Amino acid sequence: MRNIILIGFMGTGKSSVGKFLAKRLGAELLDSDAAVEAREKRKISEIFEKDGESGFRRIEKDVLAELLARPNAVITTGGGAVIDADNRRAMRASGIVVSFSASPEMILERIGKTKHRPLLNRGDRLAEIRRLLDERRAYYDDCDIKIETDGMTPFEVSEIVMEALKQKGLL
Ligand code: S3P
Repeated sequence: MRNIILIGFMGTGKSSVGKFLAKRLGAELLDSDAAVEAREKRKISEIFEKDGESGFRRIEKDVLAELLARPNAVITTGGGAVIDADNRRAMRASGIVVSFSASPEMILERIGKTKHRPLLNRGDRLAEIRRLLDERRAYYDDCDIKIETDGMTPFEVSEIVMEALKQKGLL
């Protein structure tokens, strides 16, 4: 099986859908945020605080390259992993890139008041979500399969991904 790589903004459901997909495909589930925290032995919010966003991005790039080199996996990525062109190339080379989208309002609702999204812990969250979405839109569009997830449960989204993979002859 080629790797399945899930991309998309925070709160679009990558991690929850990834769990269903990995189970369904009998594949290993690899998560870049979790792998960053495991390697660093500190939380993403601490990395942002101490090393800034650029420090986090350097670690994320390194960790992601390692995960993408492994076979037969569903790989969930941090929402900003697509910003880096090398990351995007590595994702395309590693497997099938599936992109999730959602409206800014839905994203805000799903993220709630979580503290582990340091990028959204300042000012007007909805405005910040909109700004980042605009900035990253082209990167999220660079994919094999795109799925709009508003109002859907993670299980429903995973079923749609399975169907799209079958239709495209990718399974
Ligand atoms: C980020 C998304 C987060 C995490 C970090 C930065 C982003 O991952 O990597 O807080 O830049 O969008 P999730 O998309 O899993 O929340």
